[in-house]
Amino acid sequence: MGAQAEEKMQLDQGHKFCVAPMMEWTDRHCRYFLRLISKHALLYTEMVTADAVLRGDRKRLLQFHVDEHPVALQVGGSDAAALAEAARIGAEFGYDEINLNVGCPSDRVQAGRFGACLMAEPKLVADLIAAMGESCKVPVTVKCRIGIDDQDAEESLDRFIDAVAEGGCRTFILHARKAWLEGLSPKENRDVPPIDYDRVYRMKARRPDLTIIVNGGIGSFAEAADHLAHVDGVMLGRAAYQDPYILAEVDQRLFGAEEPAPSRLEVLDSFMAYAEGELARGVRLNQMTRHILGLFHGQPRARAFRRVLAENAHLDGAGLDVLKAARNVAAGERSHAVAAE
Ligand SMILES: Cc1cc2nc3c(=O)[nH]c(=O)nc-3n(C[C@H](O)[C@H](O)[C@H](O)COP(=O)(O)O)c2cc1C
Repeated sequence: MGAQAEEKMQLDQGHKFCVAPMMEWTDRHCRYFLRLISKHALLYTEMVTADAVLRGDRKRLLQFHVDEHPVALQVGGSDAAALAEAARIGAEFGYDEINLNVGCPSDRVQAGRFGACLMAEPKLVADLIAAMGESCKVPVTVKCRIGIDDQDAEESLDRFIDAVAEGGCRTFILHARKAWLEGLSPKENRDVPPIDYDRVYRMKARRPDLTIIVNGGIGSFAEAADHLAHVDGVMLGRAAYQDPYILAEVDQRLFGAEEPAPSRLEVLDSFMAYAEGELARGVRLNQMTRHILGLFHGQPRARAFRRVLAENAHLDGAGLDVLKAARNVAAGERSHAVAAE
């Protein structure tokens, strides 16, 4: 196999199971936590605009822990030069992939002429991808919808994907519903437009040369595994955040890992070691623990675990003892009083 084909193989494998970019949710603490559960799931950052990368506090926005790999940076924008520079900087920070957001329907984003409204401008997106591809060596990918508003989800999407592939994009994450740009909030736009997985499968059948990832409404590992019969990969957003232990099946079932995933308590123990280091650097406990509330989802003591964290982690000076108390509760051990008493 030639080096290029080998690279593509690895990439295809690499996208088998992805965790979606989610603003306010998939920050570096969240990603570190998810990485403790699966070594292979590909994790995406929150969206960062190209302008923020160029003008913002770069270190704060982009720095991540070396253990987070493989990790992709999602950027937003519509200016080729700015996006090219943002991609270059992202790659320099060590991200394994740069992803362009062409799926976000928020008004704020439309005003900047990027996000989902770019689906109406395939040629522009192709130019953006080409510029980004030239400025960095890591793969540049696109996350988009199957259409916007009254676009014909058959013809328009074919045209969009073909044009953007021509610009050099080999990997597309398709949120399997349209974005309706008027009248729906971003939140409603994740639930109201009907889901159409078949449209995504048809794209894979039509363009087998491209890596096609399906996203939207996938609620469990079993559902994710079913999709893999039709496409190269799945991307889970809300389900992976609310029930992160879904990721525990990923390495063994999809990547041939021999070791079973760590137990929930082992994950928590590793996270405590991480939190200790971050607390010492001045990070507030709640900034980290807000992402782990779902760890015991569906388990007998899930609610008690969440309660200990929700009631204590935001308090001034909250430290590791709060996490220890939550652990005791989750493990079914005698609950120790928390802090300050
Ligand atoms: C809180 C939240 C924030 C999101 N932020 C982004 C974002 O920054 N970029 C993006 O492309 N999609 C964003 N999304 C959309 C998700 O990536 C995903 O496409 C969507 O939630 C559908 O997948 P799911 O049904 O598995 O959650 C966000 C979703 C949520 C719930």
